[in-house]
Amino acid sequence: MFEKMEGPFECNDPQFSELVWQAEVAIDNGIFPERIYQGSSGSYFVKNPGNKIIGVFKPKDEEPYGRLNPKWTKWMHKLCCPCCFGRSCLIPNQGYLSEAGASLVDSKIGLKIVPKTRVVKLVSETFNYLRIDRERSRLKRAITEQFPNLRFNRMGLPPKAGSFQLFVEGYKDADYWLRRFEQDPPPPHVMKKFQLQFERLVVLDYIIRNTDRGNDNWLIKYDAPAQQPPHADIDLRDPSEWRGAEVRIAAIDNGLAFPFKHPDSWRAYPYHWAWLPHAKLPFSQDTKELVLPLLSDMNFVQELCDELHILFKQDKGFDKGLFERQMSVMRGQVLNLTQALKDNKSPVQLVQMPAVIVERSKSGSTSSRFFDSFQQRFQHKSPFFSWW
Ligand SMILES: Nc1ncnc2c1ncn2[C@@H]1O[C@H](COP(=O)(O)OP(=O)(O)O)[C@@H](O)[C@H]1O
Ligand SMILES: [Mg+2]
Repeated sequence: MFEKMEGPFECNDPQFSELVWQAEVAIDNGIFPERIYQGSSGSYFVKNPGNKIIGVFKPKDEEPYGRLNPKWTKWMHKLCCPCCFGRSCLIPNQGYLSEAGASLVDSKIGLKIVPKTRVVKLVSETFNYLRIDRERSRLKRAITEQFPNLRFNRMGLPPKAGSFQLFVEGYKDADYWLRRFEQDPPPPHVMKKFQLQFERLVVLDYIIRNTDRGNDNWLIKYDAPAQQPPHADIDLRDPSEWRGAEVRIAAIDNGLAFPFKHPDSWRAYPYHWAWLPHAKLPFSQDTKELVLPLLSDMNFVQELCDELHILFKQDKGFDKGLFERQMSVMRGQVLNLTQALKDNKSPVQLVQMPAVIVERSKSGSTSSRFFDSFQQRFQHKSPFFSWW
């Protein structure tokens, strides 16, 4: 009756599988995913049987370049003027893998800012389908009524593969809290916590070379410390008295990352966080201790590439050569990031470093992975960064 979840991770995450199961039960009971109207592609809020939103599903074939993207006008624009809309450094129509890949990188390093995202298959009559699929579905339903023992899923529509990201509650677009923080800064220890979370966002975006990190594509949750009665016997300058103040970042919308070459111009796809005052401070000791031991270990980086390979190769359009290039860019990013952390640089200084790729050497006939050698190549065009 239900389409089971597929993909390389299906068995090892019972909690996630349970959630997808709940979505399927809800759909089967007529509680359908709802399209999110503000986005540029077909994204859906997925609900549980209690009508509560539990996830965000982005089907592959409704991505900006997918064949069933519902936003026809934007799609037409892209057809008429591809040079203005495409991102020539990205593999088209693999945004769902980029979403899941970002989550993989996040959990492998322990950043804990990307809501868990996996590739699943879902079917819902609220998704965008070709007319032929809907006609077939009607036919299947007619047959089911005649022969109830035949096992079609209730709708008879083909399931869609896409990214399924856990819905996080209580968060608002980063823009909202960034403005509020400017007018009414939270206590210093909250800002310190925020800074650490912010640095993790920088680490993630830099490694995956996110080309779409505007301040609407990350979320902040801030529970301001509870108001104390005016004469309460506490010292508000003491951070331990501000219990309950919590600030967290969620990095959502990671579908336009993992380019197979560096963008031709840095300015075309800047990391928008680079303009924030938080980006001018050098990376903290905490971030260095979390990230450096992992990223300076060649075996760790290779494992990361191997896991991404398992994830990415499930796409019909997977191309080994392009994947290798994606990993060469990512290794280059890791190299720069590691160096920046060692040199006590700030995120702003990090994004000014010349873009580099680290490729597997083509010469050398050894077949053993342990003797793989890599070579660095700097991009000729300068990724010149300026504030104005
Ligand atoms: N995991 C999530 N948890 C909570 N809200 C989310 C999540 N993902 C997306 N949203 C909300 O949905 C909106 C659109 O999602 P986004 O991933 O940016 O889609 P699009 O690719 O269409 O821009 C976001 O601005 C945010 O408000
Ligand atoms: Mg978005």
